[in-house]
Amino acid sequence: MPAARLVLDAAFTLAPVPRRLFGTFVEHMGRCVYTGIYEPGHPSADENGLRGDVLALTREIGPTVVRYPGGNFVSNYQWQDGVGPKTQRPTRLDLAWHSIETNEFGLHEFDDWATKVGTEVMLAVNLGTRGLRDACDLLEYTNHPGGTYWSDQRIANGSREPFGYKLWCLGNEMDGPWQVGHKTAAEYGRLANETGKAMRLIDSEIELVACGSSNSAIPTFGAWESTVLELTYDTVDYISLHAYYEEKDSDPLSFLASAVNMDRFIDDVVATADAVRARGRHRKRIDLSFDEWNVWYIHKFSGDGPKPNSADWVPNPPLIEDDFTDAVVVGTFLNSLLRHGDRVKVANQAQLVNVIGLLRSEQGGEAWKQTIAYPFEQMRRLAQGQILQVVASGDLFDSSTYTDVPFVDASATYDADRGCAALFVANRSLDEAGTVEVDLRGLRVTSVIEATTLHAGPGQDRHTTNGENHGAVIPRGFDDHTLESGRLAAQLPPLSWTVFALDCQR
Ligand code: AHR
Repeated sequence: MPAARLVLDAAFTLAPVPRRLFGTFVEHMGRCVYTGIYEPGHPSADENGLRGDVLALTREIGPTVVRYPGGNFVSNYQWQDGVGPKTQRPTRLDLAWHSIETNEFGLHEFDDWATKVGTEVMLAVNLGTRGLRDACDLLEYTNHPGGTYWSDQRIANGSREPFGYKLWCLGNEMDGPWQVGHKTAAEYGRLANETGKAMRLIDSEIELVACGSSNSAIPTFGAWESTVLELTYDTVDYISLHAYYEEKDSDPLSFLASAVNMDRFIDDVVATADAVRARGRHRKRIDLSFDEWNVWYIHKFSGDGPKPNSADWVPNPPLIEDDFTDAVVVGTFLNSLLRHGDRVKVANQAQLVNVIGLLRSEQGGEAWKQTIAYPFEQMRRLAQGQILQVVASGDLFDSSTYTDVPFVDASATYDADRGCAALFVANRSLDEAGTVEVDLRGLRVTSVIEATTLHAGPGQDRHTTNGENHGAVIPRGFDDHTLESGRLAAQLPPLSWTVFALDCQR
């Protein structure tokens, strides 16, 4: 039986919990927008066509920031197509996803949705087929109060007040050969720097994200970040990371250990950014925006993806709509992000609905939470105050890809002012319960106020999804723990995600 010992000490904090760590992503891709968040005629839709059921579930999950409108989509998108009277909006070919884009849904519709959710917007500009002029026009449209061409267009289109967006992505995955308008690091770095500088002349308060690598296995990884940051260091605030993981070759242990790769990826980008800082004798530090992450079964995707030579262009085809079994792996990704919260200041699970989504929605039908929504929602709700440095020891395993992987993976937070702490623990063992002992030093824990575990229950296997039975895999009350003299002990079910909310003396 795998065992682990954790030490949490109120004095050993890493950083305040970055609220933007709990972001998600809405792309014009597949059924994320159309029949996802937007479906006029759906029984729950409001007067603007926003699906009320998806909106309500999104509010429960509570993403703190939502990236929009892509993704690969943005690199061939003309934002002007999505504003103004709907009857006059052009229908275009979306080259990224081989789809028809009607532009029925655009910037004002997204802003309306984000306002109703109560979330921040993170907007991406097109540096693939457009560039500096277009990015400046968009920023003038969203953030300038009025009295200029683009800000007056916004007002004419129904929004007197500026949208006031702070967080901007300078393009998307510009390192990827699949990207429309793909660039070398030097080409992209120059363009991103000049675009960012010009955007800051319009609004000096914005925060800018430069594109890092679209995954850590791409051959240009490392060199790309280095060149891009050499060229943009004074202009940008963040460098992006993207990562998707899947179970390959019937090797569940390597899949369960994927967060080891995420940890290394983050550490490597921090090291690269700090090396550029040292070389350039810069004072500021570049932080990280992990603005796409999730599990994703790419082998399934190959059948659904763009078909470049075919004539079957259709609006919102279903793309990568998996039923997820992977809440435990997603929990370990959240742990990894939280453990790096001193440098990862923004993170976006990709995507919100249908496309590898936290949520699923049927056209004209129901909407529900996938298994992976639960760890996200729990950590967003309970991670408050400061991130604690978790000192962990315990049993390890080797998989075909990783060595010395802890069976028990954890992260924790502590809020002295509110008098609460939270502990998030995954047991990666497929078939064995895990024991965990937690030494809670200086936290002055008085009681466990909430304890839940999410795992395959009796009669279910690890491939159980929430597809047919929407409540099949949800966190359930967890009693197998004791709290005595500042020590928490628990027996974690095999392959489980367990969360403790603790009450602490103030
Ligand atoms: O999230 C799906 C796609 O994955 C995004 O459009 C792209 O940025 C990434 O490759």
